[in-house]
Amino acid sequence: MSTSTATAAACPNIAFIKYWGNRNAALRIPLNGSISMNLAGLETRTSVRFDESLSADHFILNGQAQAGKPLQRVSTFMDVIRGLAYQQQFASVVSENNFPSGAGIASSASAFAALALAGSQAAGLNLPEKDLSRLARRGSGSAARSIPEGFVEWQAGYADEDSFAYSIARPEYWNLVDVIAIVDPLEKATGSSEGHNLAATSPLNKLRQNGVDDRLAICREAILHQDFTAFAEVVEADSNWMHAVMRTSNPPLYYWRPFTEVILWQVVEWRKAGHAVCATVDAGPNVHILALETETAWLKAELSQLQGVKDLILAKPGSGAVLV
Ligand code: DP6
Repeated sequence: MSTSTATAAACPNIAFIKYWGNRNAALRIPLNGSISMNLAGLETRTSVRFDESLSADHFILNGQAQAGKPLQRVSTFMDVIRGLAYQQQFASVVSENNFPSGAGIASSASAFAALALAGSQAAGLNLPEKDLSRLARRGSGSAARSIPEGFVEWQAGYADEDSFAYSIARPEYWNLVDVIAIVDPLEKATGSSEGHNLAATSPLNKLRQNGVDDRLAICREAILHQDFTAFAEVVEADSNWMHAVMRTSNPPLYYWRPFTEVILWQVVEWRKAGHAVCATVDAGPNVHILALETETAWLKAELSQLQGVKDLILAKPGSGAVLV
């Protein structure tokens, strides 16, 4: 039976091997595969209600009615769902993040994963995980990875049909933590969607692409064997490759702040001293420090003493998107 209302929740994720650049921007078919971990405890919760009395889609985020680009992006995504479900009604979308919007954590992954699940369900579709991941991808590429649970790989594919994410290990498989050091809570100047379009302008883009399949294999194996040493090296290398492409694109994208570099340097020193820690940075200045859970108390104490660290957020491996 088709329902017209549904609510879903999804976590954001942190990429170990990054998605940067699209083969097909409209469909968000990425240039390369990626691997990530869902972040437990951080969550977007979204309700969708199709309503025949509406003359346009409505979108309320954290209690505030949205207009302009955010509404347009949600509405374009709802058009994809309407197309799949032969649904003609407009929808009311109400979304809440339990993490502060100013925390510098990208919310598009959790947002479009929750919206894909709630929206498709409200439209009467009961999509299997693979198709939900494909759908979420249309809203935000990284959202494809917030549908399955735990440690997740998004196979790049070549077309809509074969570009989706699946779980490679359950959340409890490896006791990894992500301690996010907030350096600057402000929203980034250049969003990811714009940034992806610049990747091809960097002369390093092809070199980055050449090595990515090897890094994907090393990362996947490191997770499956719980090999932190191999994991740390490949995660840092991949983050550096992405930022090298960003900095050498035209125009160049500088997402780091001086304190980003200070923390990255410190993490490498800690690892040399024997600690199971490594770091990765997305399209922003904040540093995700990935560590074995046994390092958590020590790591938080050290980080909170570092100049430039404004806040710390701790996340363990998280579940996939769920109906609530
Ligand atoms: C640097 O998924 O945010 O975080 O598809 O345009 O919404 P859109 O981009 P998005 O890009 C994520 C970029 C990244 C790396 C990653 O998460 O893999």
